[in-house]
Amino acid sequence: MEHTKHLWRAILLIVLIVVVYLLGRGFLVPGSFGEFGHYRGDALREEMNVRVPNFGAGVESCAACHDERAEEFRQSAHKTINCEVCHAPLRTHVEYEDIESFIQNPDQYEWTNEMVIKQAKDLCIRCHEAQPAKPHDFPHVTIVEHLEEMGVENSADVCVDCHNPHDPSM
Ligand code: HEC
Ligand code: HEC
Ligand code: HEC
Ligand code: HEC
Repeated sequence: MEHTKHLWRAILLIVLIVVVYLLGRGFLVPGSFGEFGHYRGDALREEMNVRVPNFGAGVESCAACHDERAEEFRQSAHKTINCEVCHAPLRTHVEYEDIESFIQNPDQYEWTNEMVIKQAKDLCIRCHEAQPAKPHDFPHVTIVEHLEEMGVENSADVCVDCHNPHDPSM
């Protein structure tokens, strides 16, 4: 009799330890732990938000403050591309919580940081350098030949000497 009592106490103690461990783990380990691996899933999302700021809502999110520029742009051959492709995400220029509330009340916001203007030629080349894989009707040029034909020296922002990036047709 005496011996089984000891045994039961030991078993009870072990059960108690397991229960306390499970309860403690439930409280202390964040919900998203283990979602992708041995770390908090949310940590990845937070990091992504810091490193790749959310894009705004395209031309409309710039039009709120740059209405003339946006109007010219909407009539141009470039109308299908997003201002943010050539500049930078809206969020690097204007701080906001979420894009929905920004779009509803753009007047309540002011620009917070200077907007990037990228080196023009590198930018244009990304989309317009001739490549066999591109559709034939997409306007493309072999940059070196194009500049030779036009009789101009190659330089960092040579394309915008002739083409307005916001309305590039000649
Ligand atoms: C809340 C208003 C607001 C919004 C929205 C906004 N801007 Fe601006 N932005 C300004 C103001 C005001 C200036 C002028 C700052 C100055 O005088 O240099 C400016 C300046 C700029 C400049 C620099 C001009 C220069 O000469 O250096 C660029 C480029 C620009 N904005 C692009 C954009 C783009 C692209 C978007 C959309 C993704 C955008 N902005 C959205 C208010 C805004
Ligand atoms: C094809 C790339 C491209 C797109 C798309 C683009 N921009 Fe620009 N943007 C440029 C370049 C390049 C410059 C610098 C021009 C220069 O130096 O002559 C510039 C300059 C600017 C400037 C400052 C100088 C100026 O001329 O007033 C503003 C403001 C601006 N862009 C706003 C916008 C807005 C708003 C949109 C969308 C409606 C937009 N951009 C779309 C390439 C682009
Ligand atoms: C994100 C891709 C992209 C970038 C960057 C870009 N373009 Fe374009 N470009 C386009 C698209 C899309 C069109 C329209 C093509 C069509 O109409 O089929 C276009 C059209 C053009 C045209 C032809 C206009 C016409 O009337 O046929 C010229 C010229 C041009 N872009 C010059 C430039 C220059 C200069 C730059 C750099 C400042 C530039 N593009 C940057 C995508 C881009
Ligand atoms: C000296 C002025 C000048 C410079 C600099 C210049 N272009 Fe052009 N570009 C033109 C003219 C003019 C046309 C229209 C005539 C033609 O198609 O040959 C044109 C046409 C284009 C077209 C349309 C071709 C088509 O098939 O419709 C593209 C794309 C283009 N340029 C891109 C660029 C890029 C990218 C740069 C910078 C590397 C650049 N251009 C520099 C004057 C220039």
